[in-house]
Amino acid sequence: MRKVNTKNFKKTLSKFSTGITVICVKKNNSIYGKTVNSFNSLSLKPPMVLFSLGNYSSTIKHFSKTRFLSINVLSSKQKELSDNFASSEPKLENIKFIEGKNKTVIIPNCIANLECELTDKIKKGDHIIFICKILELESNDKLKPLVYFNSKYF
Ligand SMILES: Cc1cc2nc3c(=O)[nH]c(=O)nc-3n(C[C@H](O)[C@H](O)[C@H](O)COP(=O)(O)O)c2cc1C
Repeated sequence: MRKVNTKNFKKTLSKFSTGITVICVKKNNSIYGKTVNSFNSLSLKPPMVLFSLGNYSSTIKHFSKTRFLSINVLSSKQKELSDNFASSEPKLENIKFIEGKNKTVIIPNCIANLECELTDKIKKGDHIIFICKILELESNDKLKPLVYFNSKYF
């Protein structure tokens, strides 16, 4: 075993395969989205999930001040969306967002979508953990997931 530093921490964590989500919020008619793989299930009863965002992010305020948000789990055909929402100025023009029931916007053609209410935020290290209650959800059995492993898409 080795002593931990930022480089070997990142490398080691990259060996944990994840799916990829895009978290979306709508505020004053503007849409903000961010590529996130720190998504996980938290509780069954009540149904809750969590994810974490870096508090150094230029758009953190839009996510931390919202009440509702959508979590869009990307399919294997949506690599471009992952790259787009990982950039500092994502392009929104060509995305046909669907209006959710709870003032959210949903990305179409995902393998799964969740509409959530943000219930708690916990500051830890340089990230904020977002805890959300699930309000509505849907999934598609015909699509395959976009997988992230070793800093590459599969
Ligand atoms: C596959 C992938 C997963 C990511 N997961 C997270 C995450 O869980 N939390 C986070 O804060 N940023 C995550 N990011 C980085 C953000 O998408 C984004 O690049 C970062 O917040 C910097 O942009 P900003 O300063 O404009 O917000 C991820 C990026 C990629 C490509």
